Amino acid sequence: MTRTMSVPGGGSGARKVTTFDLVEMKARGEKIVAITAYDALFASLVDAAGVDLILVGDSLASVLCGEETTLSATVEQMTYHGRIVVRGASRAFVVVDMPFLSYQVSVTEAVRNAGNILKGTGAGAVKLEGGFEVVDAVKAIVRAGIPVMGHLGFTPQSVHALGGHRIQGKGDEAAARLVEEALALEAAGVFSIVLELMPTVAARRVTEAASVPTVGIGAGPDCDGQVLVLHDMLGLNEGFAPRFLKRYAELGKAAREAVERYAGEVRAGAYPAAEHGYESAGPEGDGD
Ligand code: KIV
Repeated sequence: MTRTMSVPGGGSGARKVTTFDLVEMKARGEKIVAITAYDALFASLVDAAGVDLILVGDSLASVLCGEETTLSATVEQMTYHGRIVVRGASRAFVVVDMPFLSYQVSVTEAVRNAGNILKGTGAGAVKLEGGFEVVDAVKAIVRAGIPVMGHLGFTPQSVHALGGHRIQGKGDEAAARLVEEALALEAAGVFSIVLELMPTVAARRVTEAASVPTVGIGAGPDCDGQVLVLHDMLGLNEGFAPRFLKRYAELGKAAREAVERYAGEVRAGAYPAAEHGYESAGPEGDGD
């Protein structure tokens, strides 16, 4: 039996979202809907649901691989997951995270890694974390023709330097610094900036100051768009419940209960039942 992926609404000929569309959405006051995906199946589902942007986040290191932090993600991993997400996305703009140490060592390495990620995935852009310290890398990557998304506030690749998962930009001075960093990133050429884990007022200040759209996570309602980690908002990660996260489903519980029912039926001899078996007589079939 061949297992083809059904892409509801996919292949409908809908035009792919571009960086220009995202910038224009800010100008029109239209919210940008972003979400993470790490594979073709989930990418096709969120694409069919009409999201504007799919982020192949290095959060896959913790969400999929069980790591404590995102630091272990590699260019190879991001390229693999980026490629399979691009396969599932027909309309949404796909952005792939540059992993830790792929852009911090030198500008040359940053450009090469960004280019290899784009070449290896077919995605539309890369994202990298940081403020003033990454401006040179952003400029060089953009000069190479690669769109870049910035990421300010809590930057998970610096979790140890930041002393844990702490809210950034608290107080007037810290918020003013975030605004300065956002403007520096914008001048360097980013088309959008993720704002993670910061007070609502700080995100509002950055959003008002920047001409490029901000996409918030744990940064309040005033950003130009929102992003969530798909597995978290679907409730697949049952133990993860930060204040900013709204769960739109409880798929972790549903999956666990389904497997418990399956295990119970196998042990009781109730599955497979007669209707799940094949006859020895009759036409040749492929198992459908
Ligand atoms: O890696 C990721 O999923 C991210 C989002 C949390 C914005 O960077």
